[in-house]
This record gives sequence, C-alpha cells and structure tokens, in this order.
Amino acid sequence: MEFGRYSKAHRIRDGANVVDAKSVRVTLSMTATEREALREIAKGRGTTVSGLIQSWIDERCDVVPAVADPRVGMNVRQRMDGLVMLGCLADECAACAFFDPQYRGLPDWLDYGNEGARQIGRASLAQMGDEMITAFVRELDRVVVRSGYVFLWVDKFHLVEGDAPWLEGTDLRAVDLITWDKGRIGMEWRSRHVSEYLVVLQKRPLHAARTWRDHAIPDVWEERAEKAHPHSKPVGLQERLIRAVTQPGELVVDPAAGGYSVLEACVRCDRNFVGCDVEFGEERDDG
Ligand SMILES: C[S@@+](CC[C@H](N)C(=O)[O-])C[C@H]1O[C@@H](n2cnc3c(N)ncnc32)[C@H](O)[C@@H]1O
Repeated sequence: MEFGRYSKAHRIRDGANVVDAKSVRVTLSMTATEREALREIAKGRGTTVSGLIQSWIDERCDVVPAVADPRVGMNVRQRMDGLVMLGCLADECAACAFFDPQYRGLPDWLDYGNEGARQIGRASLAQMGDEMITAFVRELDRVVVRSGYVFLWVDKFHLVEGDAPWLEGTDLRAVDLITWDKGRIGMEWRSRHVSEYLVVLQKRPLHAARTWRDHAIPDVWEERAEKAHPHSKPVGLQERLIRAVTQPGELVVDPAAGGYSVLEACVRCDRNFVGCDVEFGEERDDG
C-alpha cells in the first residue's frame, strides 16, 4: 500500500509513540475484502485508497522528519561540510532541497585573472568546482523523495553552459526556470546584471499537477534580498516555492546555506529545515 511521501521518508508520531511509516504500513495491511471496503469509502469521498490513508495520517498524527543522526541538528544554523551533512541523511527523507553552490567567479571562468578589490568578499568564500557540485547533486538526488524538487541557483554563465553534466546518472531533470530580478544593478564586464536564475529540478517520476500546488508564481520574480550574506537569496520566493511543493512539518534541505535564507523561509511556513555551511553557523557540540 502506498503512503505517498511519508512512506520511506518519515517517522510518524501517534500520541507518545514514534514509529516508522513502514511499520504503520504493516499494521494497515489488510484482507482483500477489507481493501475492497476501503476502495468503496475512498470512491465515496472522491479519492484513492492511498489518498484516504494519507488523509487519515495527516489528521491523526504529527509527522516528524526522521533525522536520526546526532551530528545533524534540525532548524539550526550549523557549521559543517555540506557533503558530510548530506551523508548523515536517510534516502528520500526530504520533501525538497535548495542548492546554491559557491561558483568560481565569472572572471575566473573567463580567465580575466584577478577578480579585483570589489570581489574580495565573494572570492574568500570556499568555492566549488564541477566535481564537487556533481557530488552534491548526486546526494541531493538521493535524499529527496521521488517526484520531489531540487531548486538549483545558477548564475548567467552556468545557465548558458547548462547543468546537464551535473545531472548525469541522477533521476533529476530540469522542469522549469525562474529568473530572479534582484532589483539592484550589478557591475559586469559587458551587460550589467540584475538577475540570477533558479533551475527547477524534479526527481523522477515527473509529475506537475500532483506535486506543485501554486500556479500563480511568475517566472520572473522581483525581490530585494536581505544582506545576511554576500550571496543571499530571496526569502519570499523561496518561501513561496516551499509552500507550493511541501506540506507543513516536512523537511527542506540546504547543504550550502550561506546566510540561511532557506531556514528563514522554512520558519515562515512551518517546515523543518536541515542545512549547513562550511563557513557560517555554529559547530554542534556532539558533531
Ligand atoms: C552562494 S552561497 C549560499 C547563499 C545562500 N543561498 C543564502 O541565501 O544566503 C554558497 C555557500 O556555500 C558555502 N560552501 C562552499 N563549500 C561548501 C561545502 N563544502 N559545504 C557547505 N557549504 C559550502 C560557502 O561558504 C557559501 O556560504
């Protein structure tokens, strides 16, 4: 029997007991006659059997994401390597994830040499090459539920170059693109940039209607980011996306969290957050 998103990803709290959704599946296993009766009830309510059971779980239980590894804290700013953190998470434990890699700067890619004084703050952050980005993407593919989303921030250069090599061997496919208009004009060597881009990746099987609830999100989004970090991303957009693809209490992952804009978005909409940054946040005592 299918339990949708909660089947592998979550433990279920029922009163004082916390049990694996898997064991709930066992206790709910039933005879053919019982299943037929359930089908009738589901039909009467205009839903499927799994939809019916899902609604019972939603009504009766607090669903808590299973983050059992003591090295990883939930809803905190944690200084830690993102790949180590992802390695602590169970398969398919996250309803969605954000990934905002610390790209090498454009001048570096284009062989301009020294980035110059105004880039020093950015250049001093730990940077990620293709191999590391690929390793993060593979881990995100593993920890996100089937049909779940990974929101990948890219700059102009990486948008043009394409993300296909990073996705090789994963179940992730690009299904949409949102342009973030930062409302602030930056400097560049040719045109002056005002935008960054969010590639919307979905893990197979690809489904739109069942997995994305808010169809009023424009694909050009204007918002000024708070300056919590040199690369802070818009909390309002991220909150809107989280609301569109997850339920309250579900887990959102961000393994390179910078100024923790995704944590802020999760707090606003009552989702659970697991994230870290190699340079920002507190080290965990038992980490
Ligand atoms: C582009 S910023 C993220 C900004 C963030 N999205 C925000 O809204 O504030 C990328 C971050 O990745 C971090 N980083 C680089 N290598 C990392 C690693 N191996 N593990 C975790 N974080 C890493 C950098 O320290 C930097 O803060």
